[in-house]
Amino acid sequence: MFRLLLLALSCLESPVFMASVSVSRSKPVGIVGGHRTPPGRWPWQVSLRTYSYEASSWVHICGGSIIHPRWILTAAHCIQSQDADPAVYRVQVGEVYLYKEQELLNISRIIIHPDYNDVIKRFDVALMQLTALLVTSTRVSPVSLPKDSSTFDSTDQCWLAGWGNLLQHVPLQPPYQLYEVKTPILDNKSCKRAYRKKTSDERKAVAIFEDMLCAGTSGRGPCFGDSGGPLVCWKSNKWIQVGVVSMGTDCSNDLPSVFSRVRSSLAWIHQHIQ
Ligand SMILES: *[C@@H]1O[C@H](CO)[C@@H](O)[C@H](O)[C@H]1NC(C)=O
Ligand SMILES: *[C@@H]1O[C@H](CO)[C@@H](O)[C@H](O)[C@H]1NC(C)=O
Repeated sequence: MFRLLLLALSCLESPVFMASVSVSRSKPVGIVGGHRTPPGRWPWQVSLRTYSYEASSWVHICGGSIIHPRWILTAAHCIQSQDADPAVYRVQVGEVYLYKEQELLNISRIIIHPDYNDVIKRFDVALMQLTALLVTSTRVSPVSLPKDSSTFDSTDQCWLAGWGNLLQHVPLQPPYQLYEVKTPILDNKSCKRAYRKKTSDERKAVAIFEDMLCAGTSGRGPCFGDSGGPLVCWKSNKWIQVGVVSMGTDCSNDLPSVFSRVRSSLAWIHQHIQ
């Protein structure tokens, strides 16, 4: 039976993954299928936190990216509601380990894409404004956004990073080092076909819209806790963020994962960030 498990769940459940340190015997093999990331390789990668009373700490719920010294891009489903109080979030920047003694940054404003649809996950993107400008360095710097005209396909070198589960039921273990995986982009047709084929029940079919982008192959891709993180591709001598982790069926990545296509939200992003 095909069941749609949104990576969105990660958001709600990763504090649980955090609090219950269930030691797994499985060998860690990935973000899924990836490896540990050295410091400074993805200087825009951030960890989004909310306070857990159970853990008495600010726990990781989602990934995100620095797109401007004052702004973070993440997935709308990580925030849930436009009315969300910015004070209940914190952001960690410039670090490959979670939960080091490090000052977390505050948020002053949250903007969810006006066309975000919670059910079918269209325009699953949100902006968070930091209370203070970031000081950029080799470990903290914004990622480039694509141009309106740029396209990306399976020939591009694209990577995903995150602090999500290594396998469906295997949370990241201390010291919680960031993982990365090379993730090929899939063309729209193949992605739609893959989802149609897997879903015999039309009513449960996941619709892939123009504002979405598919990437990942079997055993390589995002899992719970990676939501909101950036998919970046190397083009014109720089890293460009093409997607935001949105949803998937499970962490086996038998089906490609679905990302919000950054290009589709460019006008909205530029409207808020000059
Ligand atoms: C974030 O906000 C809290 C609560 O208002 C405050 O105590 C803390 O100093 C702020 N942190 C930063 C880095 O501004
Ligand atoms: C997929 O669809 C988008 C949006 O219509 C289009 O811009 C893009 O070129 C297509 N990409 C691929 C790889 O098929």
